[in-house]
Amino acid sequence: MDHFELRDGELYAENVPLSVIAEQVGTPVYVYSRATLTRHAQVFREALSALDSVRLAFAVKSNPNLAVLKLLAKEGYGADVVSAGEMHRALAAGMPGADIVFSGVGKTAREMREALDAGLGQFNLESEEEGAELAAIAAAQGKVATATLRVNPDVDARTHAKISTGKSDNKFGVAYDRAAEIYARLSALPGLNMRGLAVHIGSQITDLDPSRLAFGKMGELMRGIRGQGLSVTHMDLGGGLGVPYKVGDVLPGPAEYGKMVAETTRGWDATIMFEPGRVITGNSGVLLTQVIRVKAGAANPFVVVDAAMNDLARPAMYDAWHDFASVRPSGERMIANIVGPICESSDTFAMGRDIDAVAAGDLAVFRTAGAYGATMANTYNSRALVPEVMVDGDKWAVVAQRIEPATILAAERVPEWLA
Ligand code: LLP
Repeated sequence: MDHFELRDGELYAENVPLSVIAEQVGTPVYVYSRATLTRHAQVFREALSALDSVRLAFAVKSNPNLAVLKLLAKEGYGADVVSAGEMHRALAAGMPGADIVFSGVGKTAREMREALDAGLGQFNLESEEEGAELAAIAAAQGKVATATLRVNPDVDARTHAKISTGKSDNKFGVAYDRAAEIYARLSALPGLNMRGLAVHIGSQITDLDPSRLAFGKMGELMRGIRGQGLSVTHMDLGGGLGVPYKVGDVLPGPAEYGKMVAETTRGWDATIMFEPGRVITGNSGVLLTQVIRVKAGAANPFVVVDAAMNDLARPAMYDAWHDFASVRPSGERMIANIVGPICESSDTFAMGRDIDAVAAGDLAVFRTAGAYGATMANTYNSRALVPEVMVDGDKWAVVAQRIEPATILAAERVPEWLA
């Protein structure tokens, strides 16, 4: 459910016509709905209310915009970060260091130091090597780093290969069979307080069985480790719950996910942590674009829009589907290819798709663009870095300015010896 709806024939974000935003900010532009973000944050929390002790860490990578983080901080969310850059954003949004979890296979020594300085709540260690390094850095500072061990359960999440993380040949976590001995060795290190296990098998998961299997395996591992006399008080089950991208898509929602988690974690006697990203931000945003022109094509016309793969990379990277809708639909339809202006064929949003009929100058949106949208944008072809807007009822504000190509050019230098 979201708050992007047609009213009197025009698409609105909450109470604001999208045409007003296009006129004042220009296109392309991401538009987020505060009401939708808040609702998704609350629905996810409520879905887990059967659990005794829950901690929610929003996956900043899905949408790191400062205003989005501020909103989630107000909803009581902490953050799951994968770089010092993301950590500083979460802190800037007012999230306490203690509520921040640091994930990722490549934490550098410098990032570990910065995180320790910020009083970070939990490091999710991805290898024994990383654990040893963090222990040494913490001990040298007279500190103790709180950590979990991320385990690779070798479970196929049945999602796109590029966003699957829990198979044994993925780079994430330590092998399931070796996890107990690694946990024991890390627990013995001064400088480390090992308090639990972490798992995350993939993103855009649309079938709960792989998660059920993975969480079951984690429960067994937890019991084995406790059996060795070691403490496990926190179990981090990651993120990954998928969202509908197409009208009519039916997939398990937060309530079913919560029920599955309650069943699989019964009797665990641990704080259960989650790192949701897309399920909160995905349907909370659209990418607003304008049709530059409609060009005749071999089989179908090409609708050339002013958004491109640099603004929304998902179709080019993962063949992802984003629904396309006209801001003022006439009721007529057309079969078309939707493409951006970038000079490569991967700059294609859709081929042979049945869409609202559009013509040059019309405004349209790509839906479900709130997650992994603006955050993956770049300036390829010397295009601007796409701006972001947040709507709240009748109000709206630019929450990230467009960075013009001239600003980027101004940061470049021709060396003297080339002048
Ligand atoms: N926790 C960890 C350790 C993760 O690696 C991820 C996502 C999440 C949580 C959040 O997952 P979510 O709830 O958002 O599914 N760029 C890709 C998605 C990459 C996801 C990477 N990890 C896309 O556009 O589909």
